[in-house]
Amino acid sequence: MAIVVRERPSQKADLLSMASPLLILSLLLLFSLNTAQEMKAKPEFECHTALFSFGDSLTDTGNLKYVEHDQFIGIWSLPYGETFFHRPTGRCSDGRLIVDFFAQGLGLPMLQPYLSGFHGAVEFKKGANFAVAGATALTPSLLREKGVEKLSTNISLENQLQWFYQLLPSICHPNNECEEYMKKSMFLVGEIGTNDYYYALNQGKTIDEVKAFVPDIVTTIMKTVEGLIQKGARTLVVPGTFPMGCWTCLLTIFPSDNSSDYDPQSGCLIPLNNFASFHNSKLQDGIQAMRKKFPQANIIYANYYNAFLRFFESPELYGFPKDTVHSACCGVGGPYNYDPTRTCGQPEVPSCGNPSMRVIWDGLHPTEAASKHVFRALSSGEFLHPNIQFSRQPCA
Ligand SMILES: *[C@@H]1O[C@H](CO)[C@@H](O)[C@H](O)[C@H]1NC(C)=O
Ligand SMILES: *[C@@H]1O[C@H](CO)[C@@H](O)[C@H](O)[C@H]1NC(C)=O
Repeated sequence: MAIVVRERPSQKADLLSMASPLLILSLLLLFSLNTAQEMKAKPEFECHTALFSFGDSLTDTGNLKYVEHDQFIGIWSLPYGETFFHRPTGRCSDGRLIVDFFAQGLGLPMLQPYLSGFHGAVEFKKGANFAVAGATALTPSLLREKGVEKLSTNISLENQLQWFYQLLPSICHPNNECEEYMKKSMFLVGEIGTNDYYYALNQGKTIDEVKAFVPDIVTTIMKTVEGLIQKGARTLVVPGTFPMGCWTCLLTIFPSDNSSDYDPQSGCLIPLNNFASFHNSKLQDGIQAMRKKFPQANIIYANYYNAFLRFFESPELYGFPKDTVHSACCGVGGPYNYDPTRTCGQPEVPSCGNPSMRVIWDGLHPTEAASKHVFRALSSGEFLHPNIQFSRQPCA
């Protein structure tokens, strides 16, 4: 798939190779201007004082409970949470999520769900999580216009941005603090949008029909990015979607009789992976346009697609046995240990006992082990465009 990486020609090297004593003064001036511009476009953040995240079940650390009690009820039972927290926390995983590793990587506490703090009991100065499991990028009414009815929550990205706007005045003073505060905060916007596609596919829409949603979904994500930048955000990480064709639930629900629909190396469904790549390339076009509009902001694309795909292509490199790489750790039945009518968290649906050797936890979400590998790669710069430095140094 196409990876759009912001070009950063090395002006320094060009200038130095041209340098002659006669030009030295003007070059020095140019040099410092260029360096200043580069610094402006790609700031070297030494510390982040806060982390704010938006998204769906890949990122929710417990908001869902406060929205609708009867959806995904199973996530409030063990074995959810068995690995790290040893209790269910509302995370759709056996343990920590990518966002938890982001927080830890920045030396910050793991994010509290925003909706847990309605009564002022929770301190959000170091960040908050607005993601809700099942959330869509588009509003329920826009999805309804597109013929998508059955959503598992009515929360969309727009609600999450509004919640952030509501919270902001209580964590920084608009007259003097907010500018600096926002500058030093990191914003994780997504992954989001995959549910919009998933609900539509589940209701019988074809991949080609769902492709038509992509522009609106990218626009919605970019509106959120823009809203945050206008409030002063300077570091935004925008993840694309994961390789959907490798995911247990989609492999189970959309099996193909045609063996050429499966990638021989990864075992993933090619049409769904191509669709995910299509979304990601449009998302990167959107990000590129935002960078032009707001050169003061550092908008980073996180390539979740490639970060996850390597687990399916070369599972042994990450300690995942090849024969169970698509199988849910917690689940029963079907070719991939996943049955949508008997899912993890329901009575008598067991965990595999060794989630560290699995990529997929419950058929829909990655294990802590997979999330940890993804974050490790991201923080070493491998799948972030442009790269950023993670520093655990506390802010002075
Ligand atoms: C979601 O729906 C519930 C009722 O089902 C309603 O009370 C709530 O206000 C809605 N939330 C949003 C954000 O629209
Ligand atoms: C299987 O899929 C390939 C690639 O999409 C296609 O060219 C071929 O005609 C399909 N075969 C059958 C039997 O449908």
